[in-house]
Amino acid sequence: MRICAPLLFKNRQPSMTVFLEGYRKTGGYQGLKKALRDMTPAAVRQEVKASALRGRGGAGFSTGLKWSFFPADEPGDKYLVCNGDEMEPGTFKDRQLLLADPHHLLEGILIACYALGIATAYIFLRDAYRDCAANLERAMAEARDAGLLGDNILGSGFNCEIHLHRSAGRYVCGEETALLNSLEGRRPNPRAKPPFPAVKGLFGKPTALNNIETLANVPHIITGGADWYRGLALTEQGAGTKLYGLAGHIETPGCVELPIGMPLGELIRDFGGGVWQQRSFKACLPGGASTPYLTAAHLDVALDYDPLEQLGTRLGTGGVVVFDDRTCMVAATLNLLRFFARESCGWCTPCRDGLPLVCWLLERIESGQGSHEHLAMLQEQLRHINGRSFCALALGAMGPVEGLLRHFSEEVVDHIRRGCCPLKN
Ligand SMILES: Cc1cc2nc3c(=O)[nH]c(=O)nc-3n(C[C@H](O)[C@H](O)[C@H](O)COP(=O)(O)O)c2cc1C
Ligand code: SF4
Repeated sequence: MRICAPLLFKNRQPSMTVFLEGYRKTGGYQGLKKALRDMTPAAVRQEVKASALRGRGGAGFSTGLKWSFFPADEPGDKYLVCNGDEMEPGTFKDRQLLLADPHHLLEGILIACYALGIATAYIFLRDAYRDCAANLERAMAEARDAGLLGDNILGSGFNCEIHLHRSAGRYVCGEETALLNSLEGRRPNPRAKPPFPAVKGLFGKPTALNNIETLANVPHIITGGADWYRGLALTEQGAGTKLYGLAGHIETPGCVELPIGMPLGELIRDFGGGVWQQRSFKACLPGGASTPYLTAAHLDVALDYDPLEQLGTRLGTGGVVVFDDRTCMVAATLNLLRFFARESCGWCTPCRDGLPLVCWLLERIESGQGSHEHLAMLQEQLRHINGRSFCALALGAMGPVEGLLRHFSEEVVDHIRRGCCPLKN
């Protein structure tokens, strides 16, 4: 088993949260100090760009590149919004970080705000995360008392306020523009892009939007430097560490921080204790519920953005959901699609009407009443929905369907041929 030194989880202890004193003991707020005392905002942005950090919220876009589009040096109101909606099934990493060590996020937000010339940040937190909200409230109070939050932070003249906003609790609120509408007190329909939030975001002002884990990486990039950070990955093109979630048919589910590029099979075997009840591995979602499946043929793949994209799937949020050999993949896919169809905001037809139709088709096939015509309709919906929806919710929803038809078409046809679920009968 590889020994890997964690960054974000370095203070993590069972059933205990580390607050300011503990965070400082292990170097906490040294990144903020270094940024404010020794670096210009442009130098911080350059370091983050050189680190090759990619967004941990699902899309994996380069954080440095995203920040380079932001009008950091222009005067006027600008905002940073931290996305902590985390409602994707199989994804629970941001919660683990806030339960372990909430100052990590606060320090990341403060450095990002300094780099981007922002004085006001919002944390948009999943409604169900009451324990995380309490941790953040306490951490913010501690930071304020210690001169790390508010006016003239650490005597540098830099001012920054952070507000905690608890979401109303819908999956679509995680989509960045729906999130902005929600934060403004509107119905959370996604907005048309362009203009992107960096140009016209919260209250019509330039807004930088990043995931919790993404921002929590920033202090380490500043203290350790971009070269060191990039070197943490196991892959040539990768950078840093990743919080991988392990769920489903696994012996020891949980969240673990490991280098980017950890081989999938090693993660499951060494850190998840293997497939539960000594059964064999059939498939997994590699990066949360919206990513196409991988199979036993892919256990050697490095969990990094590019290698997974080459296999037609995504690292997404790093939430690995494992399915054992007794799983009916049609039923598993139907279960996921029911979630996505329920969470559609109803704005556009391919998602609002298409996802319930996909559910109906999967229900027919799973119950043994499916025909080859139903299978053809499923394939047609894949083509029809992908690329035609207003936001990426519907595209993500079709990820598991794409994986089902790519890797488990024989199992689907078997349902139709036998007129029943072959795994249940
Ligand atoms: C339906 C939907 C839900 C999403 N949910 C989340 C979420 O809970 N947290 C998150 O950080 N990003 C989520 N995203 C991605 C965000 O829109 C956005 O890309 C991300 O927050 C950007 O941050 P990053 O660049 O740091 O990854 C979601 C996207 C979609 C389409
Ligand atoms: S794809 Fe369309 S209906 Fe679905 S959540 Fe996005 S905007 Fe709403």
